[in-house]
Amino acid sequence: MLTMPTRANPAATDALKINRLLGALLGGVALSAVLSAGLAQADTVPAGLTAAEVESARGIASALVNQLGQALKTSITNDGPVAAVGVCKDVAPSIAANLSSQHGAQVKRVGTRVRNPNAGVPNGWQKEALSEFDLRLAQGEKPADLEYWRVVEGPQGKRELRFAKAIVTQQLCLTCHGKPEDIPAPLLEKIRTEYPQDEAIGYRVGQLRGAVVVTRALGSDR
Ligand code: HEC
Repeated sequence: MLTMPTRANPAATDALKINRLLGALLGGVALSAVLSAGLAQADTVPAGLTAAEVESARGIASALVNQLGQALKTSITNDGPVAAVGVCKDVAPSIAANLSSQHGAQVKRVGTRVRNPNAGVPNGWQKEALSEFDLRLAQGEKPADLEYWRVVEGPQGKRELRFAKAIVTQQLCLTCHGKPEDIPAPLLEKIRTEYPQDEAIGYRVGQLRGAVVVTRALGSDR
Protein backbone atom coordinates (compact mmCIF):
# COMPACT_ATOMS: atom_id res chain seq x y z
CA MET A 1 0.00 0.00 0.00
CA LEU A 2 1.22 3.50 -0.69
CA THR A 3 1.50 5.63 2.38
CA MET A 4 1.33 9.29 3.24
CA PRO A 5 4.63 11.07 3.18
CA THR A 6 5.67 11.95 6.71
CA ARG A 7 8.56 13.81 8.27
CA ALA A 8 10.40 10.51 8.34
CA ASN A 9 10.22 10.52 4.58
CA PRO A 10 11.78 13.85 3.55
CA ALA A 11 12.03 13.00 -0.13
CA ALA A 12 8.33 12.39 -0.38
CA THR A 13 7.55 15.51 1.63
CA ASP A 14 9.71 17.60 -0.68
CA ALA A 15 8.11 16.02 -3.69
CA LEU A 16 4.75 16.87 -2.25
CA LYS A 17 5.74 20.50 -1.60
CA ILE A 18 7.01 20.90 -5.11
CA ASN A 19 3.96 19.29 -6.51
CA ARG A 20 1.68 21.41 -4.41
CA LEU A 21 3.37 24.44 -5.90
CA LEU A 22 2.83 22.95 -9.31
CA GLY A 23 -0.74 22.23 -8.36
CA ALA A 24 -1.23 25.87 -7.40
CA LEU A 25 0.22 26.92 -10.75
CA LEU A 26 -1.64 24.49 -12.92
CA GLY A 27 -4.83 23.95 -11.01
CA GLY A 28 -6.26 20.70 -9.75
CA VAL A 29 -4.91 18.46 -12.49
CA ALA A 30 -1.28 18.60 -11.51
CA LEU A 31 -2.09 18.20 -7.86
CA SER A 32 -4.19 15.13 -8.38
CA ALA A 33 -1.56 13.62 -10.63
CA VAL A 34 0.96 14.20 -7.88
CA LEU A 35 -1.33 12.84 -5.25
CA SER A 36 -1.76 9.68 -7.31
CA ALA A 37 1.98 9.28 -7.37
CA GLY A 38 2.56 9.98 -3.70
CA LEU A 39 -0.51 9.18 -1.63
CA ALA A 40 -2.81 6.31 -1.02
CA GLN A 41 -6.26 6.82 -2.51
CA ALA A 42 -4.80 9.45 -4.74
CA ASP A 43 -7.44 9.37 -7.41
CA THR A 44 -10.11 10.19 -4.88
CA VAL A 45 -8.25 12.90 -2.93
CA PRO A 46 -9.62 16.15 -4.23
CA ALA A 47 -7.29 18.88 -5.27
CA GLY A 48 -7.07 21.64 -2.70
CA LEU A 49 -6.46 19.60 0.44
CA THR A 50 -3.14 20.01 2.18
CA ALA A 51 -1.17 16.99 3.33
CA ALA A 52 -1.81 18.14 6.92
CA GLU A 53 -5.58 18.20 6.37
CA VAL A 54 -5.49 14.71 4.90
CA GLU A 55 -3.31 13.41 7.70
CA SER A 56 -5.46 14.99 10.39
CA ALA A 57 -8.72 13.51 9.07
CA ARG A 58 -7.10 10.10 8.84
CA GLY A 59 -5.79 10.50 12.38
CA ILE A 60 -9.23 11.31 13.75
CA ALA A 61 -10.80 8.27 12.06
CA SER A 62 -8.15 5.86 13.23
CA ALA A 63 -8.25 7.29 16.77
CA LEU A 64 -11.97 6.49 16.92
CA VAL A 65 -11.50 2.97 15.58
CA ASN A 66 -8.51 2.24 17.85
CA GLN A 67 -9.92 3.69 21.06
CA LEU A 68 -13.24 1.95 20.58
CA GLY A 69 -11.65 -1.36 19.57
CA GLN A 70 -9.51 -1.23 22.69
CA ALA A 71 -12.44 -0.42 24.95
CA LEU A 72 -14.51 -3.21 23.37
CA LYS A 73 -11.80 -5.84 23.75
CA THR A 74 -11.09 -4.88 27.34
CA SER A 75 -14.75 -4.89 28.25
CA ILE A 76 -15.49 -8.23 26.54
CA THR A 77 -12.47 -9.82 28.22
CA ASN A 78 -13.15 -8.41 31.68
CA ASP A 79 -16.93 -8.31 31.88
CA GLY A 80 -18.22 -10.39 28.98
CA PRO A 81 -20.11 -9.45 25.82
CA VAL A 82 -23.43 -8.61 27.48
CA ALA A 83 -21.77 -5.85 29.51
CA ALA A 84 -19.78 -4.78 26.45
CA VAL A 85 -23.02 -3.74 24.77
CA GLY A 86 -22.78 -0.74 27.10
CA VAL A 87 -19.40 0.16 25.62
CA CYS A 88 -20.95 0.44 22.19
CA LYS A 89 -23.90 2.31 23.57
CA ASP A 90 -22.17 4.87 25.79
CA VAL A 91 -18.43 4.78 25.16
CA ALA A 92 -18.61 4.92 21.35
CA PRO A 93 -20.55 8.20 21.28
CA SER A 94 -18.40 9.72 24.03
CA ILE A 95 -15.16 8.88 22.19
CA ALA A 96 -16.68 10.41 19.06
CA ALA A 97 -17.78 13.51 20.99
CA ASN A 98 -14.31 13.96 22.52
CA LEU A 99 -12.60 13.68 19.16
CA SER A 100 -15.12 16.07 17.66
CA SER A 101 -14.46 18.78 20.21
CA GLN A 102 -10.68 18.21 20.22
CA HIS A 103 -10.47 18.66 16.47
CA GLY A 104 -13.29 21.08 15.70
CA ALA A 105 -14.93 18.44 13.56
CA GLN A 106 -18.00 16.24 13.58
CA VAL A 107 -16.99 12.64 13.97
CA LYS A 108 -19.29 9.61 14.13
CA ARG A 109 -19.90 6.06 13.00
CA VAL A 110 -22.58 5.14 10.53
CA GLY A 111 -23.72 1.69 9.45
CA THR A 112 -24.72 0.00 6.19
CA ARG A 113 -27.53 -1.42 8.31
CA VAL A 114 -28.14 0.25 11.61
CA ARG A 115 -28.56 -0.86 15.18
CA ASN A 116 -29.20 2.56 16.69
CA PRO A 117 -31.45 4.55 14.35
CA ASN A 118 -30.86 7.70 16.45
CA ALA A 119 -27.12 7.70 15.93
CA GLY A 120 -25.94 5.45 13.14
CA VAL A 121 -27.96 6.38 10.05
CA PRO A 122 -25.86 7.72 7.17
CA ASN A 123 -26.96 10.97 5.47
CA GLY A 124 -26.84 11.53 1.71
CA TRP A 125 -23.10 11.84 1.14
CA GLN A 126 -22.38 9.15 3.70
CA LYS A 127 -24.67 6.73 1.83
CA GLU A 128 -22.81 7.58 -1.34
CA ALA A 129 -19.50 6.82 0.41
CA LEU A 130 -20.84 3.48 1.67
CA SER A 131 -22.02 2.37 -1.79
CA GLU A 132 -18.68 3.40 -3.25
CA PHE A 133 -16.87 1.31 -0.60
CA ASP A 134 -19.12 -1.71 -1.27
CA LEU A 135 -18.30 -1.55 -4.95
CA ARG A 136 -14.58 -1.18 -4.37
CA LEU A 137 -14.57 -4.07 -1.86
CA ALA A 138 -16.31 -6.23 -4.47
CA GLN A 139 -13.61 -5.24 -6.96
CA GLY A 140 -11.01 -6.60 -4.58
CA GLU A 141 -9.65 -3.44 -2.97
CA LYS A 142 -8.17 -3.85 0.47
CA PRO A 143 -10.43 -2.66 3.31
CA ALA A 144 -7.64 -0.47 4.69
CA ASP A 145 -7.50 1.46 1.40
CA LEU A 146 -11.15 2.42 1.36
CA GLU A 147 -11.38 6.16 1.86
CA TYR A 148 -13.76 8.77 0.51
CA TRP A 149 -12.76 12.44 0.20
CA ARG A 150 -14.81 15.41 -0.89
CA VAL A 151 -14.43 19.15 -0.46
CA VAL A 152 -17.69 21.01 -0.89
CA GLU A 153 -18.89 24.54 -0.32
CA GLY A 154 -20.46 24.47 3.13
CA PRO A 155 -22.44 27.04 5.12
CA GLN A 156 -21.42 30.69 4.60
CA GLY A 157 -19.30 29.81 1.61
CA LYS A 158 -16.75 28.00 3.78
CA ARG A 159 -15.11 24.97 2.32
CA GLU A 160 -16.16 21.78 4.07
CA LEU A 161 -14.28 18.49 4.15
CA ARG A 162 -16.29 15.26 4.03
CA PHE A 163 -14.18 12.24 4.79
CA ALA A 164 -15.22 8.63 5.29
CA LYS A 165 -13.11 5.66 6.21
CA ALA A 166 -14.57 2.18 5.74
CA ILE A 167 -15.23 -0.10 8.71
CA VAL A 168 -15.07 -3.73 7.66
CA THR A 169 -16.49 -6.56 9.78
CA GLN A 170 -13.92 -8.55 11.73
CA GLN A 171 -14.26 -11.73 13.75
CA LEU A 172 -14.70 -9.78 17.01
CA CYS A 173 -17.66 -7.88 15.59
CA LEU A 174 -19.62 -11.09 14.91
CA THR A 175 -20.16 -11.48 18.64
CA CYS A 176 -22.80 -8.77 18.37
CA HIS A 177 -23.31 -8.25 14.61
CA GLY A 178 -23.14 -11.85 13.32
CA LYS A 179 -25.94 -14.27 12.53
CA PRO A 180 -28.60 -14.30 15.28
CA GLU A 181 -28.26 -18.08 15.68
CA ASP A 182 -24.54 -17.64 16.47
CA ILE A 183 -25.13 -15.00 19.16
CA PRO A 184 -25.47 -16.35 22.71
CA ALA A 185 -29.08 -16.08 23.92
CA PRO A 186 -28.56 -13.63 26.82
CA LEU A 187 -26.57 -11.30 24.56
CA LEU A 188 -29.15 -11.46 21.78
CA GLU A 189 -31.84 -10.71 24.31
CA LYS A 190 -29.95 -7.73 25.68
CA ILE A 191 -29.42 -6.36 22.15
CA ARG A 192 -33.09 -6.85 21.25
CA THR A 193 -34.26 -5.18 24.44
CA GLU A 194 -31.98 -2.17 24.04
CA TYR A 195 -32.41 -1.93 20.27
CA PRO A 196 -35.88 -3.09 19.20
CA GLN A 197 -35.26 -1.70 15.70
CA ASP A 198 -31.88 -3.41 15.27
CA GLU A 199 -30.91 -4.20 11.69
CA ALA A 200 -27.17 -4.49 12.26
CA ILE A 201 -27.12 -8.24 12.44
CA GLY A 202 -26.21 -11.06 10.03
CA TYR A 203 -22.83 -9.64 8.96
CA ARG A 204 -19.94 -11.84 7.78
CA VAL A 205 -16.21 -11.26 8.20
CA GLY A 206 -14.90 -9.01 5.41
CA GLN A 207 -18.25 -7.37 4.72
CA LEU A 208 -18.63 -3.62 4.89
CA ARG A 209 -20.11 -2.77 8.30
CA GLY A 210 -20.12 1.00 7.99
CA ALA A 211 -17.77 3.96 8.11
CA VAL A 212 -16.22 6.54 10.36
CA VAL A 213 -17.34 9.86 8.96
CA VAL A 214 -15.63 13.20 9.56
CA THR A 215 -17.10 16.56 8.58
CA ARG A 216 -14.99 19.63 9.13
CA ALA A 217 -14.83 23.27 8.05
CA LEU A 218 -11.58 24.02 6.25
CA GLY A 219 -9.68 27.29 6.32
CA SER A 220 -10.79 29.40 3.38
CA ASP A 221 -7.54 31.34 3.10
CA ARG A 222 -6.07 29.35 0.25
C1 HEC B 1 -20.53 -6.18 22.59
C2 HEC B 1 -21.32 -6.09 21.42
C3 HEC B 1 -20.72 -5.42 20.19
C4 HEC B 1 -19.57 -5.74 19.57
C5 HEC B 1 -18.55 -6.80 19.93
C6 HEC B 1 -19.48 -4.85 18.43
N1 HEC B 1 -20.55 -4.01 18.38
FE1 HEC B 1 -20.95 -2.60 16.98
N2 HEC B 1 -22.55 -2.00 18.02
C7 HEC B 1 -23.01 -2.59 19.17
C8 HEC B 1 -24.09 -1.78 19.71
C9 HEC B 1 -24.84 -2.06 20.99
C10 HEC B 1 -24.26 -0.68 18.82
C11 HEC B 1 -25.23 0.48 18.95
C12 HEC B 1 -24.48 1.63 19.63
C13 HEC B 1 -25.33 2.85 19.85
O1 HEC B 1 -26.27 2.80 20.66
O2 HEC B 1 -25.03 3.87 19.22
C14 HEC B 1 -23.28 -0.86 17.77
C15 HEC B 1 -23.13 0.03 16.72
C16 HEC B 1 -22.19 -0.08 15.75
C17 HEC B 1 -22.02 0.84 14.63
C18 HEC B 1 -22.81 2.14 14.40
C19 HEC B 1 -23.95 1.99 13.46
C20 HEC B 1 -25.13 1.28 14.06
O3 HEC B 1 -25.40 0.15 13.65
O4 HEC B 1 -25.81 1.83 14.97
C21 HEC B 1 -20.99 0.37 13.90
C22 HEC B 1 -20.42 0.99 12.64
C23 HEC B 1 -20.49 -0.81 14.56
N3 HEC B 1 -21.25 -1.08 15.67
C24 HEC B 1 -19.42 -1.54 14.12
C25 HEC B 1 -18.83 -2.57 14.85
C26 HEC B 1 -17.59 -3.21 14.45
C27 HEC B 1 -16.80 -2.90 13.21
C28 HEC B 1 -17.30 -4.13 15.42
C29 HEC B 1 -16.08 -5.01 15.52
C30 HEC B 1 -14.81 -4.33 15.56
C31 HEC B 1 -18.37 -4.06 16.42
N4 HEC B 1 -19.27 -3.10 16.02
C32 HEC B 1 -18.43 -4.86 17.53
C33 HEC B 1 -22.54 -3.74 19.76
C34 HEC B 1 -21.34 -4.33 19.44
